[in-house]
Amino acid sequence: MTAVSLRDVSKVFNQGRPDEVTALSDIDLNIGDGQFVSLIGPSGCGKSTLLRLIADLIPATAGVVEVAGKSATQARLDQEYGIAFQQAGLFEWRTVQRNVELPLELRGASRAERKARATEMLALVGLADFAGHYPAQLSGGMQQRVAIARALAVHPPLLLMDEPFGALDEMTRERLQSELLAICAKTGTSTVFVTHSISEAVFLSDKVVVMTPRPGRITATIDIDLPSRDDAARQSPAYFEAITSVRQALRGSSPAAATP
Ligand SMILES: Nc1ncnc2c1ncn2[C@@H]1O[C@H](COP(=O)(O)OP(=O)(O)OP(=O)(O)O)[C@@H](O)[C@H]1O
Ligand SMILES: [Mg+2]
Repeated sequence: MTAVSLRDVSKVFNQGRPDEVTALSDIDLNIGDGQFVSLIGPSGCGKSTLLRLIADLIPATAGVVEVAGKSATQARLDQEYGIAFQQAGLFEWRTVQRNVELPLELRGASRAERKARATEMLALVGLADFAGHYPAQLSGGMQQRVAIARALAVHPPLLLMDEPFGALDEMTRERLQSELLAICAKTGTSTVFVTHSISEAVFLSDKVVVMTPRPGRITATIDIDLPSRDDAARQSPAYFEAITSVRQALRGSSPAAATP
């Protein structure tokens, strides 16, 4: 089955007004069940817009967006995906624990199940000791980790992640990358992951989608085939070759578009 399918999708903001922006044009993208796909490209090329279309937070101007074989709207109603976006988007009046429990509440999970799952997810992101804190009492990176725990809490079939590790230090980032891959492999989750880091995209992905700005288009799709996804993979020739391929694809679209 196809987890996500976009056919001939475009997105124009403020259509017909002087400030009209064509954010996306001619987007065709298929993501298979269980696939991990990264979107990479310069700032403003439409990566977040693409995720927001898949999540049905905004409508496409033209084309078809399907998630799990349904319309994007139906998939949203059926809670087919978990989201962790650029801003953590936590509820300030809820404790960390109760933020993570929120999607479980919406699904009608019992109190005991909510508590157990939230505790498990907070331990995973290294925040077990902060369950009773409020978001304002946490650093930016800690807030991001709460948002990741919340997105993972319901074990959704599809994860949509927009630079979720952007505010984290390198060691925490690498640990969470490995944890994320382990969770996805265990649960068969499909993932669409936005990042500015070529090495992160290569390490995580089955497929890296390279985009160009104004209007945002897909200019290359690079299949990544690493021998494994553990720390050894970060030293493998296949890893460095894939990094070079992605960098060249980005250079072709825009010089110095991203950092390694
Ligand atoms: N709500 C909106 N109204 C008008 N224009 C918008 C809106 N959201 C995004 N845009 C425009 O669409 C284009 C793509 O924006 P988007 O946020 O998708 O970029 P991005 O690739 O995620 O960039 P970054 O890497 O900086 O996060 C930009 O030109 C932006 O100005
Ligand atoms: Mg963005």
